[in-house]
Amino acid sequence: MRLGTLDLGTHPVLLAPMEDITGPAFRLICREAGAAMVYSEFISSEGLIRNAMKSTVKLRFSEAERPMALQLFGADEKVMVEAARMAMEEQPDVIDINWGCPVRKVVSKDAGAAMLKDVPRMIRITSAVVRVVNRPVTVKTRLGWDEKSKNIVEVAERLQNTGISAITIHARTRQQLYGGKADWTLIGEVMNNPRMNIPVIGNGDIDNPVQAREAFDRFGVAGIMIGRAATGRPWLFKQIRHLLDKGETLPEPDMDTRTSLCRRQLLESLKWKNEKTAVLEMRKHYSGYFKGLPFFRDFKLKLMQAATKEEVLSLFDLIREHYA
Ligand SMILES: Cc1cc2nc3c(=O)[nH]c(=O)nc-3n(C[C@H](O)[C@H](O)[C@H](O)COP(=O)(O)O)c2cc1C
Repeated sequence: MRLGTLDLGTHPVLLAPMEDITGPAFRLICREAGAAMVYSEFISSEGLIRNAMKSTVKLRFSEAERPMALQLFGADEKVMVEAARMAMEEQPDVIDINWGCPVRKVVSKDAGAAMLKDVPRMIRITSAVVRVVNRPVTVKTRLGWDEKSKNIVEVAERLQNTGISAITIHARTRQQLYGGKADWTLIGEVMNNPRMNIPVIGNGDIDNPVQAREAFDRFGVAGIMIGRAATGRPWLFKQIRHLLDKGETLPEPDMDTRTSLCRRQLLESLKWKNEKTAVLEMRKHYSGYFKGLPFFRDFKLKLMQAATKEEVLSLFDLIREHYA
């Protein structure tokens, strides 16, 4: 799959942007595990142009994370263009526009998935961003606003005509939020549109290597993107790559591997964030890292209460020894 001059290889598997989860540390670990490209958390275009710390801090990434996409959200053409210019100063490989976020705080300002209800405006803003960005611009969106308005087949083609390099489709409507089942049949319909020629990246509910392979085989997408299932399970990328490239199933990683990845993620995170934030953010990943361990409840409680780096690291050691 190519985005302009950027080659992401055959059947790339991408890490989805996730607020409060896909910071620099987790992105790096996922890249090392085989994610073909990683995305920042969504960045408010309004916040950026006001130089709000919460937004500017999300622009930062390390060279080792590349290929790296910075994702912007917003609703105003001038603000989005200015924010895209600011994001470009960091020289990301890709600028991604978020036309899919369903949360009230975002859609109430006409941003994210709300733009699916105003396609002419979505097209106008996307075109304006494509004009000022001299790297690939991509869009991430959903099937439509609600059950009665699943307009993705038309929207995808119109977005393609703005000059974007790829489109990611999360196979849900805004109304579904994250509930129900993702319905990939409409992604298939987008793929069947003979006028579509940019890569389509499918997203929604993939949580194991077999499903990943099926997404490529059944729907013919150029790439897939994984969010929740990769949280705290960065090795999922390795397992998927192994199945796709070698046709073999890799076992779940042992306790040594899990705890050392967890440790690494915390230590990497501490290079970017203060101790309190780094420790808090790790909590989102423990259900993944320690999934399926019998009688894990007490350790989980302790992990959720630990407040310092030392406490957390010594718990990782205890867990490793206990489950060795
Ligand atoms: C906690 C959380 C935060 C998210 N933040 C973003 C975001 O910042 N930008 C975005 O485009 N999508 C965001 N998403 C949506 C995911 O990128 C993805 O589209 C969705 O989770 C479906 O994929 P999955 O089933 O593989 O998780 C978020 C999802 C979750 C669960």
